[in-house]
Amino acid sequence: EKDVRILAYESSCDETSTAVIKNGREIESLIVATQIKSHQRFGGVVPEVASRHHIEVISQITKEALSEAEVSWQDIDAIAVTSGPGLVGALLIGVSAAKAASMATGLPLIGVDHIMGHIMAAQLKDEIEYPALALQVSGGHTEIVLMKDPIHFEIIGDTRDDAAGEAYDKIGRVLGVNYPAGKTIDQWAHKGKDTFNFPRAMMEDDDYDFSFSGLKSAFINTCHHADQIHQELDKYDLAASFQAAVVDVLAYKTIRAIKAYKPKTFILGGGVAANQGLRERMAGEIEKLADKPKVILPELKLCGDNAAMIGAAAYNLYQAGKFADLSLNADPSMEL
Ligand code: KG4
Ligand code: ZN
Repeated sequence: EKDVRILAYESSCDETSTAVIKNGREIESLIVATQIKSHQRFGGVVPEVASRHHIEVISQITKEALSEAEVSWQDIDAIAVTSGPGLVGALLIGVSAAKAASMATGLPLIGVDHIMGHIMAAQLKDEIEYPALALQVSGGHTEIVLMKDPIHFEIIGDTRDDAAGEAYDKIGRVLGVNYPAGKTIDQWAHKGKDTFNFPRAMMEDDDYDFSFSGLKSAFINTCHHADQIHQELDKYDLAASFQAAVVDVLAYKTIRAIKAYKPKTFILGGGVAANQGLRERMAGEIEKLADKPKVILPELKLCGDNAAMIGAAAYNLYQAGKFADLSLNADPSMEL
């Protein structure tokens, strides 16, 4: 069979990225232009700033993706782009670039859901056997997703309020950690102990949903109270206690879903999938199951936003004949 080579774009938030992916499995090139420094002084992503950065670099990194892969436009079979969810102005830059490239080259266009992309980062590491189940944890989403095949996804659990990554970023702010705080809190957590016993929400509920706002409030109240009575709290213990609460609920609900749905593969996806505590815990808990699925923990550099995962997901859509046309638009609240 002929190789399928996809040029992919991702610009939904604060990384502009391009990649060339062969047969949905092999990264021939991956360029990630991060804007994090420009947003840090605001403590979060500023949409207008994000759009301006995307447009500055997107043409250049298109050329770089092709040259790093040592291919030309003639070698590309389709152009893929994240069309949602995300920041509308940011998404529009990638969508416009991909549409322009498609129009100029005549190559087919594929619109990809960002969440489907995060999950398909797993496909760049190992073969996914279906049905598969994913815990998708990022700055904007916290979901348990059931996949009956590479393109049909069903959300069986979701957060009622904050996403897990968002909670990390918010408590990070209280501790004076730069945005995005997840990685630093994760490192601190490994130096501390779970001494605060923060709440684990919705553990008793008979569903697969999450809630992190109560944990966030408990954390903030603990810090404020200590400030008022001039008490020094150990930041490592605070981080460890917060992380233990997050990982406990994520692992508990996900294991319950695995027992109920018996998937052949378990996938961890999204920015928070880079969390060492969560990776170890999920792998360890699944190892103990009698009927255990194969576990795919994506490479660390593919957990955050990148175009390689979009190219991997796009290959599955290509195989299924799911193409977009030039009416493709950015959809900020796109649902799987
Ligand atoms: O997937 P992503 O790059 O962007 C979204 O689609 O949201 O996820 C970014 C999120 C941020 O909230 C960041 O703090 C979090 O992932 N994150 C982590 C870790 N690395 C990144 N959270 C916990 N532990 C980490 N090691
Ligand atoms: Zn993301």
